Amino acid sequence: MQRIVEPLEAKQRELWGHQTITLRHNLPSLDLFSDDYLAKMIETAAPRSLAIHAEGGTDPSNWPSVSRGNASGTQVLDAVRNGMLWVNLVGISEWDSRFAELADQIFAEFEQQVPGLNIVKRKVGVLISSPKATVHYHVDIPGQAIWQVRGRKRFIIYPSTEPFLKQTELEDAVRSATYGVASYQPWFDEHGTPHDLEPGQALHWQLNGPHRIENFNELSVSLTTEHWTPDIRRTYAMNYGNGLLRQYGWTPRSTATSGAAFWAKVGLTAAYRKSGLQNKNGYQRIAKFTVDPNSQSGARPLPESEWAPPGS
Ligand SMILES: [Fe+2]
Repeated sequence: MQRIVEPLEAKQRELWGHQTITLRHNLPSLDLFSDDYLAKMIETAAPRSLAIHAEGGTDPSNWPSVSRGNASGTQVLDAVRNGMLWVNLVGISEWDSRFAELADQIFAEFEQQVPGLNIVKRKVGVLISSPKATVHYHVDIPGQAIWQVRGRKRFIIYPSTEPFLKQTELEDAVRSATYGVASYQPWFDEHGTPHDLEPGQALHWQLNGPHRIENFNELSVSLTTEHWTPDIRRTYAMNYGNGLLRQYGWTPRSTATSGAAFWAKVGLTAAYRKSGLQNKNGYQRIAKFTVDPNSQSGARPLPESEWAPPGS
């Protein structure tokens, strides 16, 4: 079978997961990312697997949700191409067999090349976004990579340390969802590293590295991959436990992921989650807009009587 990822250099294998590495891949040559295939995916996605949103603020829970309505997959793509929209095909390897094979192959290639890499859980999505669209400064909780397939985008990555990532913000992000809001100051850019991604390039960066994205003046299609290893799970449990300690008035002093204090946090986290006290993941999306390829933004507001969860 043809390789997807160009073989990693020896130094990239050592840097994997710790520093940003740029990879080359052949995804642009696959028909999986053509307008026709994407349009079909948009039309066949279950409502929970298709997230469309319009321009919003820095907190993704405030992004206006957009229903597909009666628009065909091709019309959705036209609306993205000419408007200001983000279309996310969520967990696509769980419901499309060709993307499932692709995900299997990508992660098998990584595991073959990076010594000791043990991926215990992973997820793949496709993000289609408008020319000049941006994604605000944020942090992701699992290991992440972005694979550029069509169009170009500038991806700016910042250190995953104070003051760019505050420990309390990371703990909040861990406890609420897989996507976290982090506070941003324009001067952070003096310490961020921009990467202009072209089709055929991918980036993998250090765990929890904050980042933001600016599309060039071109429709962008990217594959996004997230993965969990035993180490990433331990870091998650430590941050979750520290967040709980802070909630109950303690100031956590350790970010160790082994030893008695760490295992006490694992126990605390498990007990807390079992108690049902944690926030339920996510928020109820209500679509107040629908896709409209004839509108300048690609979406038009719905009358209040038609507001509903997308796809209902
Ligand atoms: Fe991200």
